[in-house]
Parts: sequence; C-alpha cells; structure tokens
Amino acid sequence: MKLDVREISEGVYWVGVKDWWRRLFDALIPLPYGTSYNAYLIKGERNNALIDTVNPGFEDHLAAKIQSVVDFDSIAYVVMNHAEPDHAGGIPYVMRYAKKAKLVATEKGAKAAQVYYGVPAERIMIVKEGDTIDLGGKTLRFIDAPWLHWPETMFTYLVENKVLFPCDFLGMHTAFGFWDDEVDQLPSLAKRYFGEIMMPFRKMGQKAIEKIEKLEISLIAPSHGPVHRHPQTMIEYYKKWTTGQTEKKALVVYASMWNSTAAMIDTMVEVLQAHGIDVRLYNIANSDIGNIAEDLVDSRAIVLGAPTVLGGLHPIALYVAALAKALKPPAKYAAVLSSYGWGGGAVKQAAETLEPMKIEIVGAIEINGPPTATDHEEIIHLAENLCRKIMSD
Ligand SMILES: Cc1cc2nc3c(=O)[nH]c(=O)nc-3n(C[C@H](O)[C@H](O)[C@H](O)COP(=O)(O)O)c2cc1C
Ligand SMILES: [Fe+2]
Ligand SMILES: [Fe+2]
Repeated sequence: MKLDVREISEGVYWVGVKDWWRRLFDALIPLPYGTSYNAYLIKGERNNALIDTVNPGFEDHLAAKIQSVVDFDSIAYVVMNHAEPDHAGGIPYVMRYAKKAKLVATEKGAKAAQVYYGVPAERIMIVKEGDTIDLGGKTLRFIDAPWLHWPETMFTYLVENKVLFPCDFLGMHTAFGFWDDEVDQLPSLAKRYFGEIMMPFRKMGQKAIEKIEKLEISLIAPSHGPVHRHPQTMIEYYKKWTTGQTEKKALVVYASMWNSTAAMIDTMVEVLQAHGIDVRLYNIANSDIGNIAEDLVDSRAIVLGAPTVLGGLHPIALYVAALAKALKPPAKYAAVLSSYGWGGGAVKQAAETLEPMKIEIVGAIEINGPPTATDHEEIIHLAENLCRKIMSD
C-alpha cells in the first residue's frame, strides 16, 4: 500500500498522521475538522533525525511511514520540541525501535521525557538556544521558545532548507488539506487555535515571533494542521495577535433560562450594531467554545449576560467567564447584564471573576425579572457608553 509520506523540502519528509475523527482536544475544545499530528523525518548524509512523534494510538502508522523512508536503526536523533502527549506520546515506541537514537530536548523537556515517557537520562541529549546538530549537509539548530504553551517547548530550524519546526506554535487543528493554501478556513482556524492554546502566553509568543523574523524561512512545518509554504501569512497574523491588537468588535456571550437576560442582551446588541460595532453573539448553551475563544483574540469588548442561579452566575456563564479569564484576552472593556428572581448575586460573582483581568467594567445592570421600559433605557445608555469606548480606541 502506498502511504501518504511527502517530501516537503529536499530530504525532509512529512511522516505525520491525520486524526480525522477527533472531536475534542484537552477535554475542552471542539475540533470541527479533526486534527493532524505532524512528525517529520530529516535525512542527512550521515544521520537521520525525527522531529516529534504522534498521539498515542498512532505509533504503528508513524512507524510504517518512517520505515518507508529509512530504517529505524539509521535514526540518530529524535527531537522532542514539546512534551505533550499529542507529539511526544509516540516516544517510548520510537525509542524502543530506534535503538541508537538519542532524544533531543530542552533541560525541562529532558525532565518531562523521564517523568512522562520513562526515557533514561543516558539516552537524552539536552540542547540550548543556538546549539546545532550536524546530520551531514543538514544542520538542526535549536531555538529556545519556552511557554508555547508548556515550559519545556523549543523550536527546531533546519538551516540548509530554511524550514522551521515550531511544534504547536503557528499550528491549527484540521485534518483537511496538506499545504496552507489548501485550507479554506485558514485564518479562522489559526485564530481559533491561537485563542485556545497560545493567547495566555502572548508575551512569550511575541518574543518567539521576534526570533523567527530574524530567520530566513521557506517553510513553516508545525505539528498540527497544514505546512505553510507562505510562511509570512502566519507570521503577520501572530504579530497582530501576540501584541493584542483589537478590532471595533464586541464579543457578546450570554445564558438565559426564561429569556429575561436574553431580552436585555437583544437591546445591547441592537445598539452596538447600530453604532457599527462588529458584534459576535453567542448563546453559550448552544455555542462552540472554540468560536468564543477565536473571537476573544481580537474583541475590544466583552459583554456577559447571565441570570442568577443559586445565588451566583448561571454555571454555564461562570464557566465561560472563568475560561475567558484564564485565556487572558486583550479586551479592554466589559459589561454585565443580568436578571434575578429574588436576591440576585450574578453580577457580584461576574465582577469577582472578571476583576483580575484588568478589564474596565463599563457597567453592570442587574434587574428583577424581565426588563421594563426603564430597564431598556438603562441598557441603551450603557450600550452607548460602551460604543464610545470601543470607537475611541
Ligand atoms: C434553577 C434556578 C435557580 C435560581 N436561583 C436564583 C437565586 O439564587 N437567586 C435569585 O435571585 N434568583 C434565582 N433564580 C431566578 C432567576 O434568576 C430569575 O428567574 C431570572 O429572571 C431568570 O433570568 P432568565 O430569564 O434570563 O433566565 C433561579 C432560577 C432557577 C431556574
Ligand atoms: Fe501542546
Ligand atoms: Fe499539540
């Protein structure tokens, strides 16, 4: 059987696998198009190297692809750019068959490889910023890139071919397409992935982009999604997203049991739209959390709507508020709308949750039952204030 192995650059082979049917990542994020675990084999004149492996369960598939290009015995190095199991889960298997191989990792990566994968210390080679490995006409150079998105992460750069292997960084979850220009939804999938995985580490991402910009790059070969033969596109996106540039855009997320909060949200949305704000409206109960993460990347304002349930925020809204806080989006302004039955408490909890985000809460309106005409007036007033802030930035 002919396997899908591709020579993406002279002597550089994609030996990754596609996980067409994976629908959830990190027990959190839906994957509408599945994902891929991209591993790459580099053939030098003297030695061969494998860059990253695959998710557990795909080891045999990876092995067959590797063996269609080289023997396991000829692999001298297995580079582990990142220790998370979707890329490093195949390491125990690969190290068992590639008997002569050393595992190449950062110092923190070495520790993780021992803890997670039982790789003995004597089989690990620790590399630092600027270290190189010469495979014979192919030089691997290692780039320190920690916290993207675990502490041990690094990038590998293949000097002669000008190929960058940044593992999770600059990736996206999709099994569709092989090259960047074959993925129709590329900007959206890239942004969604950035929001979910990289946004909490924007400062580290900025540093990494600064390093990448100093390199000559012909291909970006990440470990999820397509290989980028137009590398500048992703670099430009990441420059915008890592520096937290926002649009005249409001992410509006709400939950409502009996439509009182929903009616408040309707008024808010109408006013925002009338002022030319790009509104992204999600009813949390039936939304994909990945879309919300995507719109958090460049929204200037967040509006949270939720009724009081058992003295606090509706739990599904609390979940989204907690997630938004954890993802550290660059939004500057927030507003909260809420309806209660007898004692309230949602707004208090929303404020407590959003407080550490360094976001300005422009206003919070908590009403009893469905909104009255006066309540709507108040909401309109808040919406107009919010518009002014969004537009003036
Ligand atoms: C399961 C449940 C728990 C509730 N808990 C509280 C509460 O602790 N305090 C309160 O003031 N109202 C509570 N309420 C009442 C709602 O907050 C009130 O009906 C509100 O108007 C609903 O807004 P909605 O139409 O947007 O869902 C509760 C309602 C339900 C269904
Ligand atoms: Fe990861
Ligand atoms: Fe990953």
